[in-house]
Amino acid sequence: MSPFHITRTLPAAGSVTALRIDVLDGLTSKHKTLPPKWFYDARGSQLFEDICELPEYYPTRTERALLTSHAGHIAAATGARTLCELGSGTSQKTRILLDAMPRLHTYVPVDVSESAITQARQTLLRDRADLRIHAVIGDFTPPFDLPDTPGPRLTAFLGSTIGNLLPGERAEFLAAIRSQMAHEDALLLGMDLVKDEAQMVNAYSDAAGITSEFNKNVLAVINRELRADFDPDAFSHVALWNGDYERVEMRLRSRTAQTVRIPALDLVVDFAEGEDLRTETSAKFREEAVRSELAVAGMTLTHWWTDPHRLYALALVVPTPDPTAH
Ligand code: SAH
Ligand code: AVI
Repeated sequence: MSPFHITRTLPAAGSVTALRIDVLDGLTSKHKTLPPKWFYDARGSQLFEDICELPEYYPTRTERALLTSHAGHIAAATGARTLCELGSGTSQKTRILLDAMPRLHTYVPVDVSESAITQARQTLLRDRADLRIHAVIGDFTPPFDLPDTPGPRLTAFLGSTIGNLLPGERAEFLAAIRSQMAHEDALLLGMDLVKDEAQMVNAYSDAAGITSEFNKNVLAVINRELRADFDPDAFSHVALWNGDYERVEMRLRSRTAQTVRIPALDLVVDFAEGEDLRTETSAKFREEAVRSELAVAGMTLTHWWTDPHRLYALALVVPTPDPTAH
C-alpha cells in the first residue's frame, strides 16, 4: 500500500445530493440558514487558510502556541498509535502533534474538502514519508466510519470547529465519538473561549474583507452546483454576538428585496430587504459547561490548557471509567 491512502466516503454525486437537501431545507425555513460545511470548496478552503493569517483571527495562532507547549505531554499521556483528525483541513498545525508522537503508526485526516486533503498530502508526503496516512474525504457528521487502525487512538478536533455545531449536533457528535472509543483512547479538543465581545466579533469582521469573501463563497458554491443566480454583491456580510447562545453568528443580509432562482431545485426564494441568511454559528466555550457536556456523553476532561489571556483552550478527554468494570 502507498504511504498515503485515500478513502472517499463522500462521492461527488452524493455530495451534491446532500447540498440539494440542505439548501432546500435551509432556504425554505422561516429563518433562512445554511450549514457551514458548504463553505469549503477549493476557494473556500483557501480563504479559510487566509483567515488563519489575519491579525484579527487569534484562534489559529493561539492554538498553535498551545499545541507547541503541550504536544509532548499529549503524546506521553495518550501513547497514541493512531491520530485521527476530524476537519483536518491542510493539517498544518497537526504537524506539531505528529512530530511529537514517536509511537505514532497511522495518521487519519478526515475532511469534506478534497482540495485541503490534497494539499495535506503534498506536504506530508514530502516531509513525513515515514508515516502511514489513511486520509478520508468525508463528512464527520454522525454516523461516520473510521478506518481500522492500531490503538490507542487519539481523535483530534482542532480549530474550534466543534463550535460550528449547533448544541444538539454537538451532543450527538460527542456521543458518536464516545461510542467509537476504546477505554485507552482519548479526544483532543481545541475550543475558542468566551471573552471580550469586540475581540470575538472582530475575528469575523476583518478589515481586509477576507471573512466576507469566505462567507459569500457559499453563494458561489450554490450557484455553481445548483445553477442558482445569487448575486453575492446583493448581500452584506454580518458578524454578530448572540449572547443567549454565547456564539458569534455569520449571516448574509439581503441589501434589497430580491428573488433568487435555483433551477436544479425548481425553487424560487424571496428575500426581504434586510432579511438574514445565517451561514455559520461559532460557539464560544466555558470550562464548566464543557465538563458537563462531556460528562453527559460519558467522557471526562483530564487536562485543560489555556493561554495567558484565556482566549483559547485545549482539552484532553478520556472515556469516563465504568465503575462496574474490573
Ligand atoms: N482543523 C483545521 C481546519 C479548520 S477549518 C484548523 O484548525 O485550522 C474546518 C475544516 O473542517 C475545513 O477544512 C472543512 O472542510 C472541514 N469541515 C467542515 N465541516 C465538515 C464536515 N461536516 N465533515 C468533514 N469536514 C468538515
Ligand atoms: C472552522 N471554524 C472553527 C471557523 C470559525 O471560527 O468558526 C470558521 C470561520 N468562519 C469565519 N472565520 C473562520
